[in-house]
Amino acid sequence: MNTFNTFRINIEEYYTGHKRKLPWRKDKPVAYEVWLSEIIMQQTRVAQGTPYYEKILAAFPNVETLASAPEDELLALWTGLGYYNRARNLQKGARQIVQEHDSKLPSTYKELLTIAGIGPYTAAAIASICFNEVIGVVDGNVYRVLSRYFGIDTPTNSSKGIKLFQEMANECIKGTSSPANYNQGIMEFGALHCTPKKPACLRCPIISECSAFQNGQTSELPVKLKKSKRNAKDFHFAVVQTAGKWALRKRDTKGIWAGLYEFPQLSSRPAHGHLLQDPIVHKLTHLDLTCHFWEVPQDLLSEPLIFYSKEEMTMLGMPIIIANFVENKLKPT
Ligand code: ADE
Repeated sequence: MNTFNTFRINIEEYYTGHKRKLPWRKDKPVAYEVWLSEIIMQQTRVAQGTPYYEKILAAFPNVETLASAPEDELLALWTGLGYYNRARNLQKGARQIVQEHDSKLPSTYKELLTIAGIGPYTAAAIASICFNEVIGVVDGNVYRVLSRYFGIDTPTNSSKGIKLFQEMANECIKGTSSPANYNQGIMEFGALHCTPKKPACLRCPIISECSAFQNGQTSELPVKLKKSKRNAKDFHFAVVQTAGKWALRKRDTKGIWAGLYEFPQLSSRPAHGHLLQDPIVHKLTHLDLTCHFWEVPQDLLSEPLIFYSKEEMTMLGMPIIIANFVENKLKPT
């Protein structure tokens, strides 16, 4: 038996004993639900993402309802999850499935890749979990588990690494009777056992074959190339109130926070006005945004203003930093 086979069998055994009960894990998984869960859980922990999954599925129980929803409604439910392009692409994908696939998700890896917002990871997850296709999933968990077990220090975010780890994932899954269980098993193992910090090595079922453990490299793997230097920027928000309502603007459809609502912005620190709370640093992928919330007179703003009550704001998609300010600091005077 080769090492890939041994590894796979161990992972499948682990999954049998440690499988979490999650709402989209069913005897007969529903492809739409698995798709929705996988998009939400990207860059989000399962525990954090699951309430969003429940809420969004309740609002849009199938591809058709998601496709026909106003974008603002989806973004409002997405508030707090971040990476809002995921939501917009998810809806684009739903519209494509309605129009080109008779409202049914394609059932193969290759066809799934043609849907907006579905990349190699999501296509492999849906194809294996719902249609038992033999194709390896590769997410952050998989990079970590494979790099440690096989002792691979190729950077996971290099083009060489991306190709190599996909090939290894495909080798590991070969010969399984349940691609669904193997793929979910390796993610589960990475999420619960072979964790980024303090992995449970001393009660690991595959410690004797784990290259990283045997060579004392567990904390050094996986290797990731450092991204270029971070940028920093200040946002000065103008908080203007009239009759218990506040001025908001909808952002452009391009760039960060596309299509989300925010307070109008000032080009710089205002000469007159006072800060409504200490500046907050909001970390985006490449950018540290320092956000200042200013109470200023209305005549400082030249753009046409639309005013919303706090209650009306709960229906709008907002960056989390704005939503938190609204929730905690906005009070009618
Ligand atoms: N994290 C994201 N998707 C997952 C899945 N299908 N199983 C386990 N962990 C996950």
